[in-house]
Amino acid sequence: MKKEVRIALGLAVVVVFVLVLLTGAFAQKKAPESMMLKLEGAKFPPVPFSHPLHTEKAKIDCAECHHKDKNPKEPGGCMPCHDLKDVKNGAIPIKDAYHKNCIECHKQSSAKGVKAPTKCNDCHKKQ
Ligand code: HEC
Ligand code: HEC
Ligand code: HEC
Ligand code: HEC
Repeated sequence: MKKEVRIALGLAVVVVFVLVLLTGAFAQKKAPESMMLKLEGAKFPPVPFSHPLHTEKAKIDCAECHHKDKNPKEPGGCMPCHDLKDVKNGAIPIKDAYHKNCIECHKQSSAKGVKAPTKCNDCHKKQ
């Protein structure tokens, strides 16, 4: 191989390596902005949930809710661990997990003067 070719190849390898590193660093999973939470077989109306309201306006840390993910900035959902019906590996059923997570914080927040929904119909809003 000619010297120039080897240098060019070497440079190409370096460029690819740097690109891989950069995309890795910026690959933070983006939180869905607004979602409707609805469990399989749910009887109550689905519950609206806004990430920006919670993470940007109320400044709540990802790990507050995504509490067991290895990287809370790139979380999955709650259902891999919280079962629909049963306690699984010490994790309470998903309905109870949601109610505990959402309602406890909303009660504390409302007590401090920042109102957040705590009543059934405030979250399970009829459309
Ligand atoms: C802070 C919001 C919030 C409040 C307040 C709340 N829930 Fe829920 N609830 C949820 C979320 C989120 C889920 C999971 C998504 C869904 O609705 O399926 C859920 C799920 C449920 C489920 C299981 C799914 C279904 O629809 O059958 C029931 C039953 C339920 N809630 C009843 C209640 C009752 C009764 C109250 C009042 C005592 C209440 N919830 C108050 C957020 C809330
Ligand atoms: C107040 C609670 C709360 C906070 C804070 C929060 N999330 Fe979430 N996030 C949820 C809930 C609830 C879901 C829906 C989970 C499900 O569908 O099982 C969710 C879903 C997600 C999902 C989709 C997961 C999937 O694969 O289904 C991503 C990605 C995500 N959140 C990222 C983030 C990031 C990043 C942050 C911090 C900047 C964050 N979240 C902060 C509650 C929260
Ligand atoms: C990787 C597994 C895993 C994921 C994902 C996960 N959890 Fe949990 N969760 C657990 C385990 C295990 C427990 C019981 C042990 C403990 O509380 O530390 C638990 C307990 C809880 C509790 C009860 C805590 C207490 O103080 O009693 C709440 C509330 C909760 N989870 C909410 C959530 C919500 C909401 C999500 C999704 C945004 C979620 N969890 C995602 C594994 C998980
Ligand atoms: C750690 C605290 C915390 C947790 C956990 C939390 N919230 Fe909230 N939530 C807030 C605060 C604070 C507000 C009020 C924000 C404001 O108005 O500035 C709020 C507001 C809301 C509102 C009202 C939005 C509106 O437009 O008026 C809904 C709906 C809601 N949350 C749903 C949920 C659901 C569903 C969960 C559980 C998956 C959850 N929240 C978990 C702190 C929390």
